[in-house]
Amino acid sequence: VIQDVFIIGATGNVGKELVKQIVENDISESVHANPTRIVGLASSRSYVYHPYGLNDRTAISFSDKLLDPNECKGYSNYFELLRLVNRNGETPKTIFIDTTSVVDPMIRFHTRIIKHEVHGIVTANKNPLALGSFDTFELLTSRVERYGFSCTVMAGAEIVNLMRDLRDVNDRPTKIMGALSGTLGYIASRLENGDRFSAVVTEAKENGYTEPHPGTDLGGTDVRNKILIIARTAGLDVKPENITLEPLIDRAYLSIRDVPTFMARLPELDEHFEELFIKAREASMTLRYMASLDNTRNEPRIKIGLQEVAKDSPMGLLRGTDNKVMIETFTYGKGYIIQAAGAGIRTTAQNIRRDLLGQLVNRQATNYNGVRTKSY
Ligand SMILES: NC(=O)c1ccc[n+]([C@@H]2O[C@H](COP(=O)([O-])OP(=O)(O)OC[C@H]3O[C@@H](n4cnc5c(N)ncnc54)[C@H](OP(=O)(O)O)[C@@H]3O)[C@@H](O)[C@H]2O)c1
Repeated sequence: VIQDVFIIGATGNVGKELVKQIVENDISESVHANPTRIVGLASSRSYVYHPYGLNDRTAISFSDKLLDPNECKGYSNYFELLRLVNRNGETPKTIFIDTTSVVDPMIRFHTRIIKHEVHGIVTANKNPLALGSFDTFELLTSRVERYGFSCTVMAGAEIVNLMRDLRDVNDRPTKIMGALSGTLGYIASRLENGDRFSAVVTEAKENGYTEPHPGTDLGGTDVRNKILIIARTAGLDVKPENITLEPLIDRAYLSIRDVPTFMARLPELDEHFEELFIKAREASMTLRYMASLDNTRNEPRIKIGLQEVAKDSPMGLLRGTDNKVMIETFTYGKGYIIQAAGAGIRTTAQNIRRDLLGQLVNRQATNYNGVRTKSY
């Protein structure tokens, strides 16, 4: 079975790595039992397309932004890309892979694919699922075999698949607790060691752990989007008025858009964080930036912010950039824990390929070299 894919966002960190991994591992029918064929690649403005698959050179050069502009074509909306694969009167199933961070146009595009077409989607872009309505979420994810979204949370660790399966076996979560930001996890574990807040944020920024404007991480909206996807996957429609979000730092700082000014003001917060962590330490506690969902009452509620946890608790023991989620359900009364890297280009690209496996019909088992040595 050959799977045709069209990657939108192919020139970004994740998209580029994905092209490389597919070319290196999945593309050849002679070495892989479930080959992938890259029929199209798009950046924000241009694309390359061939109905029988792009050659490796074209694919790699396009994603490296080194392809001769004469070999690319321009486009202005995603429906043009859809028309390419739908022409000639036949519509072979194509899986569109979204590695952009586009919001509204992608909500429309994902919806169109799932509503009207035979095609599928695999997305690392969480925006259509977190920023669209609950109804949109339900529509998109209703087609389990045509919509892969495991990479929208924890870079594709099992949380999305677990929540979906628990929903389908009717085991509702009563509580979910998640440390869902590698950046904020790193900052909290450094503050626990007594390091200065401004120095830690500066170092995290220099090491590429933060977004270009660190306020994007410190504001907590990314964590909110992730817990919302987890909750929605479990079937819970959490109303905006039932979500409390406390950014790690005061909103007045977050409104400083100029990055150098923002960084220069951070030392003003050093004392505040030092005091918080000392106070927690005196009570054998520590602090972690977490999202907690409580589903034990009439309506599910989400609280996001810095929370005290026992030093020797699963969340207190979390270090560095790893993410961790603890779920309590009727069956898993004592909790089910998933811990893994919360981001990472290589992991994300690989897990997009796992989502592609999830859309195969008649998937065949394979070995490390691709195909099986014996046929059965
Ligand atoms: N990095 C991670 O570890 C990780 C993990 C899980 C999920 N994700 C998610 O994966 C997505 C991509 O992350 P990234 O780090 O690869 O981002 P990135 O490096 O900024 O890449 C973004 C890609 O999207 C393209 N793009 C931008 N605007 C577009 C538009 N309007 N229409 C079509 N394409 C557009 C860019 O094309 P140009 O080159 O033309 O600008 C580029 O190819 C994000 O949603 C992110 O949240 C990332």
